[in-house]
Amino acid sequence: MFDSDEFIVNAKNEIKEEIGDEKAIIALSGGVDSSTCSALVSDVIGDNLTAIFVNHGLLREGEVEEVTETFKDRLNFHYVDASDEFLDELAGVEDSEEKRKIIGRLFIEVFEREADKMDAKYLVQGTIAPDLIETEGAIKSHHNVVLPSGMELKVVEPVRDLYKPEVREIGAKLGLPDKVVHRQPFPGPGLGVRVVGALTRDNVEICRKANKIVVDEVEAAGLDKELWQYFAVVTNTKATGVKGDLRDFGYLVVLRLICSEDAMTAEVPELPWEIVRKMSQRVTSEISEVTHVALSISDKPPSTIEFC
Ligand code: XMP
Repeated sequence: MFDSDEFIVNAKNEIKEEIGDEKAIIALSGGVDSSTCSALVSDVIGDNLTAIFVNHGLLREGEVEEVTETFKDRLNFHYVDASDEFLDELAGVEDSEEKRKIIGRLFIEVFEREADKMDAKYLVQGTIAPDLIETEGAIKSHHNVVLPSGMELKVVEPVRDLYKPEVREIGAKLGLPDKVVHRQPFPGPGLGVRVVGALTRDNVEICRKANKIVVDEVEAAGLDKELWQYFAVVTNTKATGVKGDLRDFGYLVVLRLICSEDAMTAEVPELPWEIVRKMSQRVTSEISEVTHVALSISDKPPSTIEFC
């Protein structure tokens, strides 16, 4: 049986012993893993931990404001807007593993550039057990477990043996707000892996708008705590539609709403039909570039949670 109080005491002792009076940095995404690690480490070393929040241009609507608001007074918080750098380099890239590689490499470059200013000796990472298992199994190259190659930093991974529900428990005990503790997991490469095929600023924006609609409707229906992840994917399939009196040729967007315990397996729940229909209607009426909406009904396995 997992004892979160005991875990926190032990983890803090280890952090104290390992980092001591040195400086550390962490890439904070605002998700529960990196937020919990930031809170855990900053509780021990205070402002000697700098939490670097990089905007790679593939974040969700309102995410920069939300993360900044949550952490600016709680942590030694450092925001970097690198969105143009990422989006310029990703323009037209089709293959999702290629996208992951570019995002991972640029992320490290941006992070190293910022970290150089901090004089840190330690790099804190919010790696959790499934990240390691899935990366070792080479299912997808989750960029958050690729270590910055040129950095001479010692890596500290306080929650590397935990699964998400345990991390949430720790985060709550450390006083993180509910919206962080129960925030749905969001992949490091962000909306980049929710656009199938060539990335453009336009289809990233379509994806951002569609994701916001899914989140709004799930929250309005009070389903957010029941679902593990809920999002929209912009596919590279074009489908015919009719808008007004005119024939239109737009994107096919797929809704993916799934239940899971730890992302290793996942099931599609029976969703209230009116919610799915409302999402579909809102997506096609509010996003002019979309003509069709489909619902993914595949479990993991055989599908993965993300489309790419
Ligand atoms: P899959 O799609 O492999 O996803 O079933 C399992 C969990 O991992 C998330 N995911 C990622 N997280 N970098 C990340 O940090 C990635 O490249 C990545 N790809 C998938 C996914 O959202 C799900 O929670």
